[in-house]
Amino acid sequence: MSMRMLTVALTKGRLAKKSMEMFNKIGISLEEMNDPNTRKLIFENEEFGIRFFLAKGPDVPTYVEYGAADIGIVGYDTILEENRKLYEVMDLGFGKCRMCVCGPASAKKYLEHNELIRVATKYPKIARDYFYNKKNQTIELIKLNGSIELAPIVGLSEVIVDIVETGSTLRENGLEILEEVCPLSARMVVNQVSMKMENERITKLVAACREALKK
Ligand code: PRP
Repeated sequence: MSMRMLTVALTKGRLAKKSMEMFNKIGISLEEMNDPNTRKLIFENEEFGIRFFLAKGPDVPTYVEYGAADIGIVGYDTILEENRKLYEVMDLGFGKCRMCVCGPASAKKYLEHNELIRVATKYPKIARDYFYNKKNQTIELIKLNGSIELAPIVGLSEVIVDIVETGSTLRENGLEILEEVCPLSARMVVNQVSMKMENERITKLVAACREALKK
């Protein structure tokens, strides 16, 4: 009987690239995936009985919770925001950045005095948890889908809650970090049923990845 394929959901973009570098180190290579012109979404490695697909970050926890993927690689920001039922098994240590409250220096006073301000973000759950539960500050949340830094510049909101990696987007737009919400990095997540049914294979894969990341 041939082995059931393990399915891994990768986050499209920078994290997928880093994830594949890690899988390459443990001997799982997928030539097709490196073809920049390919529109294929799923890639199989018969030898290892494993297949990979690329999805948008917020969809990765969904695929994993429903078992359409046994394993997922996704940013901790997305794990917090999506709040799906899954096991988080490993901090991969790449994709390091921070979730921060940012804005012009002049917005600092609104945070110090817990004023009712508008907060624009792609991460409403993280922002709500932070302001309501951690800071006890009532805010008006505005959900955006990208280029969040625009919001305080054009007067949509006083501050934003967003990811800061190098800080250059903030600098180039006259904004700064006002408060840090939490550190972020890529995590490996596993479907709860797969963790039982495929325990041996998944444990081996996790151990191999851990070794590869040390190199
Ligand atoms: C992310 C984030 C910031 C930027 C931070 O945006 O939302 O805008 O990267 O990186 P930096 O500190 O190195 O400048 P992303 O490029 O993912 O696009 P988005 O605007 O669509 O969210």
